[in-house]
Amino acid sequence: MKKHDILDAKKLPGEEESELSLRPKRLSEYIGQKELKDNLKVFIGAAKSRGETLDHVLLYGPPGLGKTTLAHVIANEMGGTLKPTNGPSIEKTGDLAALLSDLEPGDVLFIDEIHRLPTAVMEVLYGAMEDFKLSILISREGGAKALNLPLPPFTLVGATTRAGSLSSPLRARFGISAKIDFYPPEDLLKIIERTSKVYGMPLSKEAAELLSKRSRGTPRIANRLYRRVRDFASYDGLKEIDEATALRAMKALKIDEMGLDEVDLKYLRAVIERFHGGPVGLEAIAASIGEEMTNLEDVYEPYLVMSGLINRTSRGREATDKAYRHLGLVYQGRLF
Ligand SMILES: Nc1ncnc2c1ncn2[C@@H]1O[C@H](COP(=O)(O)OP(=O)(O)OP(=O)(O)O)[C@@H](O)[C@H]1O
Ligand SMILES: [Mg+2]
Repeated sequence: MKKHDILDAKKLPGEEESELSLRPKRLSEYIGQKELKDNLKVFIGAAKSRGETLDHVLLYGPPGLGKTTLAHVIANEMGGTLKPTNGPSIEKTGDLAALLSDLEPGDVLFIDEIHRLPTAVMEVLYGAMEDFKLSILISREGGAKALNLPLPPFTLVGATTRAGSLSSPLRARFGISAKIDFYPPEDLLKIIERTSKVYGMPLSKEAAELLSKRSRGTPRIANRLYRRVRDFASYDGLKEIDEATALRAMKALKIDEMGLDEVDLKYLRAVIERFHGGPVGLEAIAASIGEEMTNLEDVYEPYLVMSGLINRTSRGREATDKAYRHLGLVYQGRLF
């Protein structure tokens, strides 16, 4: 593992198992995202009381914030079976037809990375979502034949990190569309405390607070930091993670008090020192610090922007005064 992978919000190879054990099963266990949960409670309760399936749900937002988890929670709350799949694995209309014809009434079909569905597949999906009908063309000798099959009522839950790449006809077919936001430290604190109970190694309030501020608003990273800190505590033969151990682990992993690592700091220093605070193009930043552009864009920038250190403008990236302050530098002639 590259050293800075620990702060990459995308799922790492081998992380599957630990995530499964940590996944909340009910809405009441799903921490944070209050508005979204309150709305879902109403929609789920109403659908159940009418004996209907829930409207189709689109979940979008950056990686590691709980989209897959919420899809499972929705299926549990509705009492249906979750059938998971993902955009890239549905290559042909026939693949989708196979999935759809396998559905039982009340099932929840979960399509992760739904923006990656091929156009032809998406068109078949439209009909299935709208009137629970499967309409496909089957080619055979002498021409094509349209096949129409009724489907049982089901709920489609689609997840994407890129809502912008979703076609508008697909978007329009979701009755419920929900954005999952970065979590404030107080929610991450609760997530870390919950995780510590699942793993059976308690941590002090101070240690939990320290980690919650360094988790980049992301539950997946919070859980990962907890596991790494637990390693340090176990190695020292401790029964509980204290603040000193948490701090020592963060130092060893080179994660600072805002959750920034060496790459973030190199990025900020490049913008400020080499490019006079910007605006500067991403390509120039990437070249000057020897990192890949896509990596910076997908892994680093969302958090730098969210935490107000960088602004993305039409002319390029700019460091904010908060970035100067964080690095202890002078901003526009003033010393912060
Ligand atoms: N609200 C929450 N409460 C408690 N734990 C959470 C919450 N959201 C996410 N988690 C935990 O964070 C981890 C990552 O969540 P999940 O896999 O659902 O993210 P995701 O949005 O689907 O990510 P990706 O975009 O990479 O698919 C899981 O282990 C999950 O248990
Ligand atoms: Mg997911």
